Amino acid sequence: MDIQPSLYPLTEFTSGQDPWQAAFAAHAHDLQPSEIRALFAVASRPEVVSLAGGMPYVAALNMDHVAEAVAMMLRDRGLVALQYGAGQGHPELREQILDVMTPHGIRAGLDDVVVTAGSQLALDLVIRVMCDRGDVILTESPSYVGALGVFKAAGLDVVHVPMDEQGLRPDALAETIAQVRAQGRTPKLLYTIPSYHNPGGVTQGPQRRHEVLAAARSAGVLIVEDDPYGLLGFDGIVPRALHADDPEGVVYLGSFSKTIAAGVRLGWAVAPPSLREKLVMAAEAATLCPSNFTQLTISTLLSTRPFFDQVAKFRDVYRERRDVLLEEMAHSFPEGTSWTTPIGGFYSWVTLPEGIDSTVMLARALDALVAYVPGTGFYADEQGRSELRLSYCYPEPDRVREGVRRLAGVLNNEIAFRDSGRLLETR
Ligand SMILES: Cc1ncc(COP(=O)(O)O)c(C=O)c1O
Repeated sequence: MDIQPSLYPLTEFTSGQDPWQAAFAAHAHDLQPSEIRALFAVASRPEVVSLAGGMPYVAALNMDHVAEAVAMMLRDRGLVALQYGAGQGHPELREQILDVMTPHGIRAGLDDVVVTAGSQLALDLVIRVMCDRGDVILTESPSYVGALGVFKAAGLDVVHVPMDEQGLRPDALAETIAQVRAQGRTPKLLYTIPSYHNPGGVTQGPQRRHEVLAAARSAGVLIVEDDPYGLLGFDGIVPRALHADDPEGVVYLGSFSKTIAAGVRLGWAVAPPSLREKLVMAAEAATLCPSNFTQLTISTLLSTRPFFDQVAKFRDVYRERRDVLLEEMAHSFPEGTSWTTPIGGFYSWVTLPEGIDSTVMLARALDALVAYVPGTGFYADEQGRSELRLSYCYPEPDRVREGVRRLAGVLNNEIAFRDSGRLLETR
């Protein structure tokens, strides 16, 4: 078969190669598929127990209530719902978001809230407004893979700050800021998840929050507080947001993804006034306005059904699954494995026995019909091979148990393999 010369001037067309690749902007090469996305294809097969993705258990939502809200909303306000709306978001929903944030101690005004298509977009907009390529951004070690994707796409230099069982370490934060400064650079932002961390499964206590705020404030570093899980604490206590104690120094990101449904794609930012104005302009440039349809649906749901009862229902579902996960890990995982004990949210972070590589082990885990996310996905550098993330949010409790048992079997095989290799070395 003859290979035709390219119709497009920028590149030679060779069989199987996309003619546009050579024309991509330089920064487009930073856009790489995330480890989670590649995994989803295999992990979504029904025979696989997926402890990988952080999908909310939307089956715990009453579908009749949602259907009624959609019908009522369309009947009463269909013409508004199907029209363009305000770039900052519908005022009625923004008012309700203020109520949703009350348990976090946030006392904001209607004008402070910017509604976005998921908090992911809010983060992207904050980065677009605040950061230039090459800027330094600080974040926990490990950190949320979706945020790392935003930072990478924006060409930022991610510097990780160590955590312990109480989340981000303020002493390490101060030290890291000093180190970055010593290189003649200034960290632009600190991105942090203080409550029910993804992937760490840890939560900052009140004193810790106070110290993190103090360290960032004294260094003049703006904090971006990502809080999609804040209402999902298993003891029902809602941690006080960092933003509540420093509204000028903290941008708060909220989301309905875990408390109502991820598919509605509704999140928001609460930001200091000058930044908020820029966020609205950046949001309008990106999407014109958030969907009126989903905003008014959620607004109707919030005004006709008790939101916090729904949150409590989700909390009970996740608490039961967390209990099963912890119980089964304690029962089945081999010696030398350790993990965090989440008091809310979706995740536990597992550290493997010495010499076991979570990236290499993944193929064998998938063969054994269990999926997890290798630790490397949660770092911007080369760390994470001896760690992995387990999510207990989506599978039914008996599937969570089965998944942990399967993974324990895989781990035992890896250890046996490791030890046989060591034995050969000593001969
Ligand atoms: C820490 C964190 N931030 C943000 C998101 C995404 O939120 P949204 O669905 O509102 O974009 C997630 C989803 O898993 C998350 O874990």
